[in-house]
Amino acid sequence: MSEQKREKLTATTTLFNMSELKAEVNRMIQHLAAHPIYQHLNSLAAIKCFMEYHVFAVFDFMSLLKSLQNQITCTSLPWKPSGYPGEMVRLINEIVSGEESDFDEQGNPISHFDLYIRAMEEVGADTFEIFNFIENDCNVNLLKPGVREFLDYDFAVAQSGSLAEVAAVFFYGREHLIPEMFSSILRVLEQEEKPCPTLLYYLRRHIEVDRDEHGPLAQKCLAYLCDTEAKKLKALSAALKALYLREQLWDCALVELTSFRVQPNKSQFVGESDVVRGDCVEVSPSRNASVAKLTCLAAPFLERRRF
Ligand SMILES: [Fe+2]
Repeated sequence: MSEQKREKLTATTTLFNMSELKAEVNRMIQHLAAHPIYQHLNSLAAIKCFMEYHVFAVFDFMSLLKSLQNQITCTSLPWKPSGYPGEMVRLINEIVSGEESDFDEQGNPISHFDLYIRAMEEVGADTFEIFNFIENDCNVNLLKPGVREFLDYDFAVAQSGSLAEVAAVFFYGREHLIPEMFSSILRVLEQEEKPCPTLLYYLRRHIEVDRDEHGPLAQKCLAYLCDTEAKKLKALSAALKALYLREQLWDCALVELTSFRVQPNKSQFVGESDVVRGDCVEVSPSRNASVAKLTCLAAPFLERRRF
């Protein structure tokens, strides 16, 4: 592992002992389930903006999952039996199968990424950034603040982290977190009665599968992989950093989506000369707000970071 990557994986949470770390991870999970961004998903414009950020989390989740699949199951030739418990191999293969080939509302096979892209198109969200990123060799320097750090860290973990670290980021930062987080988003969207059926289906599908089927098994797998205190400490540290970066991602999305005042009952942003009030931030109304401006706006949120 390169020095730079090692630094990225270990620089966050050495200040915590085990019990502090567990408490902080649990606090962050609760905190993210109640992030203020969900309460702002009350207009089509806000939902579009949220989805343009969240699509990157949908995308990079697959790299963590593939890293687990590569290490826990056999994905190279010639095939060899896995040395891990059958329950763990089955869980990973089952999650991969669901993520890469679930069913849409009509019962047609589709990956969750493609389903999410369909949901974005349904509400008119812009998919340029995600496809531009994919087509340009997943160059994180093309991404805006918040998204860049989030992906950069998850890619580093997926490529160079220990198996326990990858599993912890995957299970704590994703599988364990998603049912609560998506339930919060779903409640707001249902109240608002916005026309986004594919997004609603996507969220409900994850709440159902992740909480009821994968959650308990995932905890069991993680416990198996963290068979020493040292491994557990490193794994929880990696998960905590991923949670901080998730919060930063939502903070940056919140800054952007509250940077534009939306005309009542319309999905268009108002012009620069309009007065921005309440929790909206005064910023150029250009949909393509500059990276520098967003960095500056995000500063109060980012100051709270521990790393
Ligand atoms: Fe998924």
